[in-house]
Amino acid sequence: MPAHIRLAHSDDALFLPRVELSAAQVFRSIDGLGWLADTATMTVERHQQLIALSTCWVVVDADDQPQGFLSAERQGDALHIHEVSVAQSIQGQGWGRKLLENAMAYAHANMLCAVTLTTFKHVPWNAPFYTRLGFKPEVDLRLAEILADEYAHGFEPGSRCALSWSAR
Ligand SMILES: CC(C)(COP(=O)(O)OP(=O)(O)OC[C@H]1O[C@@H](n2cnc3c(N)ncnc32)[C@H](O)[C@@H]1OP(=O)(O)O)[C@@H](O)C(=O)NCCC(=O)NCCS
Repeated sequence: MPAHIRLAHSDDALFLPRVELSAAQVFRSIDGLGWLADTATMTVERHQQLIALSTCWVVVDADDQPQGFLSAERQGDALHIHEVSVAQSIQGQGWGRKLLENAMAYAHANMLCAVTLTTFKHVPWNAPFYTRLGFKPEVDLRLAEILADEYAHGFEPGSRCALSWSAR
């Protein structure tokens, strides 16, 4: 079977840190963000927790090996995206957009209000991309806390934003 998206299962967790590390190499092209390419990824255990929620999807190749993923969880009446990563070798082929559209379709089908995430304002494949998908700036208490936590972990003040897509 050619590459496709499926729900992640627990065996996939082992492969996802490698995918995330590969994906993050793209940040080397952005001044001041190259350090993200060397930053620790989510642990296998964290991936297993998120996979168990049945809101993690993977892009798999013809051998059923994960090459990309979107990890999310329900927070209140929103589906919050923790991470989207596509391995460097298959970036720019539309898989990131398909993962996002998959999560948006899930939120709509499950009567959730929104899909939310936090991201970099000025990285071309971050906020500008999500904006093209229909995401809009939003900062409620939950998202403000997530942003505050990110800044506490070293992101440059003002570099991040919270975005929301209405699933209704
Ligand atoms: C974000 C990411 C998942 C996108 O994956 P992808 O498979 O390359 O995505 P797509 O091919 O569907 O492209 C997504 C959009 O980003 C744009 N894009 C992708 N790579 C780009 C690049 N290097 N420069 C500029 N724009 C880029 C595309 O034009 C596309 O926009 P469009 O669909 O409106 O035309 C991937 O770049 C990645 O893993 N990045 C590192 C981790 C990251 O930034 N995750 C998001 C955290 S919020």
